[in-house]
Amino acid sequence: MSKTPTMRLDRLLGNLGYGSRKEMHALAAAGEIVLDGVAVKDAGARIAIGPDLPRRMTVMGRPVDPPPPLIVMLHKPLGVVCSHKEAGRRIYDLLPPRWRVREPALSSVGRLDKETSGLLLITDDGDYLHRVISPRRHVAKSYLATLDRPLGGDEGAIFGSGSMMLEGEDKPLLPAILEPLGERRARLVIEEGRYHQVRRMFAAVGNHVLDLHRERIGGLALPGDLAAGEFRILDRAAAEGVFSA
Ligand code: URA
Repeated sequence: MSKTPTMRLDRLLGNLGYGSRKEMHALAAAGEIVLDGVAVKDAGARIAIGPDLPRRMTVMGRPVDPPPPLIVMLHKPLGVVCSHKEAGRRIYDLLPPRWRVREPALSSVGRLDKETSGLLLITDDGDYLHRVISPRRHVAKSYLATLDRPLGGDEGAIFGSGSMMLEGEDKPLLPAILEPLGERRARLVIEEGRYHQVRRMFAAVGNHVLDLHRERIGGLALPGDLAAGEFRILDRAAAEGVFSA
């Protein structure tokens, strides 16, 4: 059985963005850090770090932020960007401000375009991130697309062929599953995450995506009660649900 890791309190809280080592020592000395109901006066103390820490520890009277590994599902709204390089409001602006300075840093698990909404995972767990995006895992991503023109009828066969080429690429797309939901509405399930893939697939068959929403990653669906712009912390079992499709 693996032992619960331990870390110095000043280092843990510094990594979580609460402040410098000096500030953490002052906070501890002032009795503002409480573990299991008892003030920890020495910020140099080593403490066990597990997922239950926010239930056991308070900092300035509030539950401590969740320690790594942190995995969050966000209902990404339209108009928000995933990349630090793009201009505009970022997904990280929808999370608590202190999380922007956490170490290890949070990253999105793949990306959604600025004008795509839906399920986005954000984590500081590099191993988890790579498992989700690894092509070898074949994690299916399900999108709902609203189209500019009516479906022609042959898209399902083209997308599912395994030989469809996108412009400017030299490797065919893996077979994807198209489910028509109406004249101009479809569900598309893909296993890859190429740049603007869904929009480019519809463009390649002479259509245009007006609205795009990701409803599912593997076995993990965006919950109906998570509004656009809201996020939820996932426990390990829920996060691993991605792989149980
Ligand atoms: N395909 C796209 O075109 N955009 C996304 O954001 C995701 C998949």
